[in-house]
Amino acid sequence: MIKDNYNRVHDYLRISLTDNCNLRCFYCMPEEDYEFTPSARLMQPHEIESIAKVFVNEGVKKIRLTGGEPLVRKDAADIIRRLSKLPVQLTLTTNATRIHEFIDELENANVKSLNISLDTLQADKFQIITRRDLFARVYENIQLLIARNFHVKVNVVLMKGFNDNEINDFIEWTKNANVHVRFIEFMPFESNRWTSNKVVTWKEILEVIEKKYSITRLHDDIHDTDKKYTVNNHQGTFAIISTMSAPFCSGCNRVRLTADGKMKNCLFSQSETDLLTAFRKGEDILPLIIQNIKSKEKELGGQFTKDFENIHTENLHNRSMIAIGG
Ligand code: 5AD
Ligand code: SF4
Repeated sequence: MIKDNYNRVHDYLRISLTDNCNLRCFYCMPEEDYEFTPSARLMQPHEIESIAKVFVNEGVKKIRLTGGEPLVRKDAADIIRRLSKLPVQLTLTTNATRIHEFIDELENANVKSLNISLDTLQADKFQIITRRDLFARVYENIQLLIARNFHVKVNVVLMKGFNDNEINDFIEWTKNANVHVRFIEFMPFESNRWTSNKVVTWKEILEVIEKKYSITRLHDDIHDTDKKYTVNNHQGTFAIISTMSAPFCSGCNRVRLTADGKMKNCLFSQSETDLLTAFRKGEDILPLIIQNIKSKEKELGGQFTKDFENIHTENLHNRSMIAIGG
């Protein structure tokens, strides 16, 4: 078990398969021309498998594949197959545009639960956010996953004046569909147009929902990043990820690997440990992993305080979300 200096056990690994994506969400991709990492610099399937095994031997129980969009990688199926043989719970975060091509593969790999990014239920707004006309495809694929009994969580990044008027449309969706909607407070990353007044807070989200519905708080586990609720008589549930207004760092059990094999101990950490280069040289990467976890900051990568109104994005040092892996 790998513990950091705050006694947090790290048993959840998030692996980004690529920084490439077939959508262009403005809050995730930097505005200026972004160069995707060339494939030779990405971890190859056997490298992902071997590096993941080192983490699993140290007690990692859950692996999430992210990106970019993990399913745009040509060898995604090979990677999924390899990881499905490890004794871990395997999950994905995806934009769902390619789910219809992968659904059998996911079933065979024993994937039970997926996180889908979808910020609007309106086709025209979807096009504005993602710059692609794929709303119908995504919506259909979500229905397909639900019909095939996957546990489907839908991640909605809320931005004031943009999609906060859809909060109750998403809640209405949970009425007759077994869908689990998670509203995420908008977070600052390199050039993603974040300003504190665009954040819709946990409290504000609840106020909107409680005007219309009667809700009950559900139980959260220690490592959960989301605060879960149910609306009486609804089939699905909803949750709020309050990274900005109420960070949940004290229960953090996660570490990340970027697609080019750099380990990050926090979404907001400034430092990275290059595991892939060491691995390619035949070095033992375990000491690097342990050292990386021991250097984990107490909260939010040590980059800002809980007082998000006072964050100055020009002082923030980080990759963009697409380059880290969500
Ligand atoms: N703030 C909050 N959430 C974000 N995501 C991507 N960028 C941001 C941001 N700036 C979300 C994606 C995805 C999840 C991994 O992170 O929508 O669902
Ligand atoms: Fe792609 Fe997800 Fe980023 Fe949108 S948020 S550009 S779907 S990786």
